[in-house]
Amino acid sequence: MTHILQELETRRAEARAGGGSRRVEAQHAKGKLTARERIELLLDEGSFEEFDMFVAHRCVDFGMETQKYPGDGVVTGWGTVNGRQIFVFSQDFTVLGGSLSETHAQKICKVMDMAMKVGAPIVGLNDSGGARIQEGVASLAGYADVFQRNVLASGVIPQISVIMGPCAGGAVYSPAMTDFIFMVRDSSYMFVTGPDVVKTVTNEVVTSEELGGAKTHTSKSSVADGAFENDVEAMMEVRRLIDFLPKDNREGPPVRPFFDDPGRIEDSLDTIIPSNPNQPYDMKELILKVADEHDFYEIQEDYAKNILTGFIRLEGSTVGVVANQPMVLAGCLDIDSSRKAARFVRFCDAFEIPILTLVDVPGFLPGTSQEYGGVIKHGAKLLFAYGEATVPKVTVITRKAYGGAYDVMSSKHLRGDFNYAWPTAEIAVMGAKGATEIIHRGKSPEEIETLTAEYEARFANPFVAAEKGFIDEVITPRSTRKRVARAFASLRGKKLSNPWKKHDNIPL
Ligand code: HXC
Repeated sequence: MTHILQELETRRAEARAGGGSRRVEAQHAKGKLTARERIELLLDEGSFEEFDMFVAHRCVDFGMETQKYPGDGVVTGWGTVNGRQIFVFSQDFTVLGGSLSETHAQKICKVMDMAMKVGAPIVGLNDSGGARIQEGVASLAGYADVFQRNVLASGVIPQISVIMGPCAGGAVYSPAMTDFIFMVRDSSYMFVTGPDVVKTVTNEVVTSEELGGAKTHTSKSSVADGAFENDVEAMMEVRRLIDFLPKDNREGPPVRPFFDDPGRIEDSLDTIIPSNPNQPYDMKELILKVADEHDFYEIQEDYAKNILTGFIRLEGSTVGVVANQPMVLAGCLDIDSSRKAARFVRFCDAFEIPILTLVDVPGFLPGTSQEYGGVIKHGAKLLFAYGEATVPKVTVITRKAYGGAYDVMSSKHLRGDFNYAWPTAEIAVMGAKGATEIIHRGKSPEEIETLTAEYEARFANPFVAAEKGFIDEVITPRSTRKRVARAFASLRGKKLSNPWKKHDNIPL
């Protein structure tokens, strides 16, 4: 018996050694942790249960029969994050560059299937040279098996990808179909074709970092939802995100003990809106003041900054926030911000996370670049996302809510449950000056000025909309946290469903 136990330990040690100490040192020298070190940081101490530690590839081409590593370049299993179960796979770059073989893919598929059966999030830690070149089409088939599972799991369990090394070729498409992608600065990159192919085909000279580094994907392409300084920070922040997420689409948002009075009054909010309507203020301040313990987990912080998206808690329960940011482009809606917010709204709705919408929007950004870029279709994404969402929706208009953008931003007409406005709200078809110039075309500048003031007095307030019942209540800014928390509390029993359909046809 003893020798059998010893053999088990020997085999385990062999698997834990990955590609050997030389390659582990090389990994560390690049500032990267190993696959197992990452899992240790991600999961609660001692909670990791591993699957398939001894799985080996079956390839016999190119001398591969002599290059076998137990585990085959990916560590898989489950564990807990603050006591809540998640499944995980972590590619081991020290074993054949973390490349994906047929068996490597089967290991990933097994944990994905388990996560679906149990109803728990899956986190993929990607660090791989792509398809195992020695295996050819078997490896491509393995990728496709993972892709298919990503599609079926979408909207059922949260899927999170962290890019912690190379991620190229078709390998990028599995992360692309997950809910959130995070990257590590300076050590990870994602692209469909690398710099050498780019040079050959388009004659462009570009570095890996410029083409597909964290900065590119968080600020330009919007492929990634966030970036972190190093592996340790990445794992800590993924833990923080998991705390906000339901385990699947049936659980509803997690509720944590909270130590922040839901009735907390914030007097400073009464003066947050500047007296000049064209002067910006920081909408993030409002979000932080509304949130439990001022905790806001922002998604896509560096992209389309004219809209803010992310998670907060109210009375310990997760709420998704979408908010126009007057500090950037006056908070207008455009192609990028509509796409960003639409995807976020759909994530929240799929996972039964209520949505708080904070509105200060002067309208859609005009211009040929927007029209040629298809702002009609992209703007419609956000309109569609809000319109189909059945989760509790609470909206607060702080200042401008003009034109079509008023309708889009979770208005009463799109089944908003509670639609509040601050007394500073201006709900109108357009800005007073523009409206006056159109209605009174040909009048002198002095006359226009007087008529603008009259128009403002009549329409630049929340009361016209409140008279029609489009605004449920005009609230004091200082009481926003209390009112919003009470609104969501009253909506806990909300039941609303859309007509039966196979699926909708959102304007993609
Ligand atoms: C097999 C691979 C590999 C791969 C790396 N290795 N990529 N083995 N298949 N795809 C091995 C190397 O031979 C080496 O083995 C070890 O991993 C580390 O690789 P290095 O090149 O020494 O590391 P580094 O200099 O950091 O470069 C990393 C790299 C580079 C940029 C990822 O290895 C690279 O370009 N690899 C090939 C990438 C690629 O073309 N992949 C296929 C893409 S096609 P030793 O024994 O020396 O440690 C694809 C299609 C998917 O992915 C389609 C899905 C639909």
